[in-house]
Parts: sequence; structure tokens; C-alpha cells
Amino acid sequence: MSEENPPEAPSEETAAAPERTEAAKPGPGLLEIRDLMVVFDGFTAINGVDLTVGEGELRFLIGPNGAGKTTLIDVITGLTKPTSGTVRFAGASLAGRKEHQIVRLGIGRTFQTSVVFEELSVLENIDLAASFRRPLASLLRRRKGVTDEVASALETIGLRDLADRPAGILSHGQRQWLEIGMLIAQGPKLLLLDEPVAGMSKDERERTGELLTEIARDHTVIVIEHDMEFLRRYASTVTVLHEGSVLVEGDVAAVQADPRVQEVYLGRKKEEAA
Ligand SMILES: Nc1ncnc2c1ncn2[C@@H]1O[C@H](COP(=O)(O)OP(=O)(O)OP(=O)(O)O)[C@@H](O)[C@H]1O
Ligand SMILES: [Mg+2]
Repeated sequence: MSEENPPEAPSEETAAAPERTEAAKPGPGLLEIRDLMVVFDGFTAINGVDLTVGEGELRFLIGPNGAGKTTLIDVITGLTKPTSGTVRFAGASLAGRKEHQIVRLGIGRTFQTSVVFEELSVLENIDLAASFRRPLASLLRRRKGVTDEVASALETIGLRDLADRPAGILSHGQRQWLEIGMLIAQGPKLLLLDEPVAGMSKDERERTGELLTEIARDHTVIVIEHDMEFLRRYASTVTVLHEGSVLVEGDVAAVQADPRVQEVYLGRKKEEAA
């Protein structure tokens, strides 16, 4: 068999050369969202969002309650169907794909509420999550020990000493780390984390910031977070959502100094005080 391309299948360069399509522009994102709209029963939750996240980025997504942050993640993961607009991941459109298909493409998420199995051990929770990617035949074989991806996830989240304890005994922070470990054991390219440090102690927040930084070395990560102090320490690029639209995007210092961002956050504080 010849390794050469047959004449009817031109090489990528030849095919892309005549016109510069959107995908051929410099630095296409791993995730590209364009003109996204989500309308629930006449209420517009996402209103024309464009978002590009490049491979290897640790992107923070912030915005007041109801800004549409979780809805955006719900759309990316196939839980919510967009009213219009496109979501592309690694060049492929996600339109019409089911949640499990999107997981298999390499997108993993956590939820605002925890989903670990309390009676299973920390290790078993990670192993179960990882088994999602294994061929069925290997699941039917009884395995000795743990696979590399499970051991590595356990190490990354720093819960090796608690590997055999039931997940039910974990502190709130440890539980969040376990969920992150369950995600990375599935080998995703893109991780979407919905408020991972909510309700954590100061120490737990710090450890989570370090964990996210470490994970971002070989994954693309989008983190939803409210806490400005946390952002100052761990964020580089921040996207601010407000009333379903991107208000500002840029580095953390510029975003914080932006009067529109201050107004949105101060406005919220005033309402809370009232
Ligand atoms: N399934 C749904 N049906 C109707 N309205 C919805 C639905 N899901 C979300 N919404 C509304 O869409 C808006 C955006 O909600 P979303 O949960 O995305 O906000 P958020 O930015 O994640 O807020 P929070 O910071 O409180 O988590 C809210 O006004 C919410 O009430
Ligand atoms: Mg939310």
C-alpha cells in the first residue's frame, strides 16, 4: 500500500491555501463559541456570546449571580441546547451531540453541587470515573492494583493517604478535589469547573488554586469563580459575563480596573446591602 495521498485527497495546506477560512486564522481556539443565544421560555440567559479559549489556557469566567455562567457550561457540555449560535471544540461542531458523546470528545465538567458516591472509597470513586473511558472487555477482567491514570489523579489531588477511606468522610474541600480527580482520570482535554472553591476555607482555597495551576500545565481549564481575591492570585485571563453577554475580557488587573466591572460588582453589593 502506498503511503502517498491519492490525487483526489489534496494535502491540508493545498486545501486551505485558496481562501482563509475561520479555522485557518492564526491561533484558533480549542473552544470557539460564536453568537451564542440561549432563551428559556422568553427569558434570554445567554445573549450573543463569543468566546475563544486556546489550548493550555487557564481561563476564569466571572460575573454576578444569574449572569449565565452555568448556562454557558451547560451548553458546552450538551446539557442545554442553544437557541442559536455555534460551539466548536478542537475544530468539530458540538451541535446535536449528546452529553456522553461530548465527554468522549474530551470535555469534562464539575457541577455546582457534588456528585461523589459516599459509600465508595476515594480510590473507587476515581476508578469508577476512569472506567468510563476503558474498553468494556477490560472492565470485565478483574484488575489487580490501580491503573496509571487513577494513581496519577489520586497523586495530583493530594488524597493518596485517604485512598481507602469512604468518600463520605471527606471535608467539603477534599470532596471538591476528589471530583476534580474523577474528572482528570477520564483524560479530558478541557475541564469546566463550576465554582470549585465555593464554601472552602482559606487553606483549602489556596490548595485548590495550586491544584488548578498544576492541572492547567497539561489541560485547558475554564473555572467559574466569584472570589476576586482568588482571581488576583491564580487567574491570568478573565472573561466577565453580565446579563448573558461578555462585558469585558482581558488580564486580571485590567478587568479589575475596568469601571464597567466595578459597577456590575458594586451594584450587586448595594443590592445585597439593601
Ligand atoms: N432551565 C432554566 N429555565 C429557565 N431559566 C433558567 C434555566 N437555567 C437558568 N435559568 C436562568 O438563566 C439565568 C442564568 O442562570 P445561570 O445559572 O447560568 O447563572 P450563573 O451565572 O451561573 O449564576 P450563579 O452565579 O448564581 O451560579 C438566571 O436568571 C437563571 O434563573
Ligand atoms: Mg452558576
